[in-house]
Amino acid sequence: MKRKTLYFFAWCLLLLSSCTAKDARQASYDDVVRYCDGKIHLTMSQMSCHDSMPRNLQGDATAWNLRANTPMEWCSGFWDGCLWYDYALTGDTDVLQAATETASSMLYLSNAPLFDHDLGFLTITSLLNGYRLSPDSLTQSVYREALLSCADSLALLFNPKVGTLLSWPRNVEIFGGHNTIMDNMINLELLFWAAAETGRQDLFEMAVSHADTTMAYHFRPDGTCYHVAVYDPQSGAHLRNCTHQGYADESVWARGQAWAIYGYTMVYRYTHAERHLLMAEKAADAYLRLLNAQTGVSHEPSASSDYVPYWDFCDPAIPNAPKDASAACVVMSALLELQQYADEAKADEYKKAIDKTFASLVADYRTADTCPAILAHSTGHHPAGSEIDYSIIYADYYFLEALYRMKIR
Ligand code: GLY
Repeated sequence: MKRKTLYFFAWCLLLLSSCTAKDARQASYDDVVRYCDGKIHLTMSQMSCHDSMPRNLQGDATAWNLRANTPMEWCSGFWDGCLWYDYALTGDTDVLQAATETASSMLYLSNAPLFDHDLGFLTITSLLNGYRLSPDSLTQSVYREALLSCADSLALLFNPKVGTLLSWPRNVEIFGGHNTIMDNMINLELLFWAAAETGRQDLFEMAVSHADTTMAYHFRPDGTCYHVAVYDPQSGAHLRNCTHQGYADESVWARGQAWAIYGYTMVYRYTHAERHLLMAEKAADAYLRLLNAQTGVSHEPSASSDYVPYWDFCDPAIPNAPKDASAACVVMSALLELQQYADEAKADEYKKAIDKTFASLVADYRTADTCPAILAHSTGHHPAGSEIDYSIIYADYYFLEALYRMKIR
């Protein structure tokens, strides 16, 4: 055979194999979307009203444990968010109707007394997603008004002396001051969004101040973060760092680290300030370093391929400690955005981490056919003995968000 003909056949083979690999990836993505859509429909069939929302379930239970839809229940918006993303992924109009009805049940928040920083989680997941994904402009404008009013309400938690939002007004005495938790970074999106919609510089500056102050006092030099920072509410002085949901004050609570990565990536989307991008990358690099060390040191062959963190990277019970799929989902969704801002080498590293996380979740964290949750094995509040190794609604929410980000990127 002539050399030219050989080259031609080799090129055809290469093309064929790369097409097959791409098709296989696409097929697995489509299968996962179908799997999630099945779970969403199963949950929809179990929901009779919006007074309460799915929160968690244990093992392969066939129904969610519900919690009352109130400002005190920080997870109330996630189910609506799951519906919005499922609608965006499938175009199913039954799901759109369910998403719209559920969002209506969140509108009361615009007139409700402010409870705490979780007003951001409650409204970003439900109304802000609805504002972005609903095809109906009238519905969008109703959500917009409610969101702007909620942003004003959230801004009341800002202490200008400290430079951050107070996370838990009810816990000022317990913590001995103005407490700010890493989770609070997520809620800044409501302020940034409202500032961008209205041109309100005050809201923008509050959010930037919160991000910068948190950057100064909430991180260790290696990029890992504390869960809580406590400040003197009068002088604004930083008093101490501690944990609430992690193993110890100096440990690395996996979901706290995930909130940091997600938070600074989102902040950079609005500020375009290099320091925020660098913070997001530093937090992500610390997480991946710990995760790689964790999988690398394990002697169990199955654990070495599991790219989902233990609930706290420092729990001495590892490898017999529970995992936290929710942290993996938050990070996967964040990295899908961060890789767009990062340079080529880092983007490549993040892409590999996304692929490994996705593969682990799909292989080992799906639930039984009769279970309405998408993913198993999350950990909510380990020190309180609550939701250890459960399916939790926010894991499903960030998993669906990641699928949506994969679709639009
Ligand atoms: N925001 C509470 C948590 O991450 O559990």
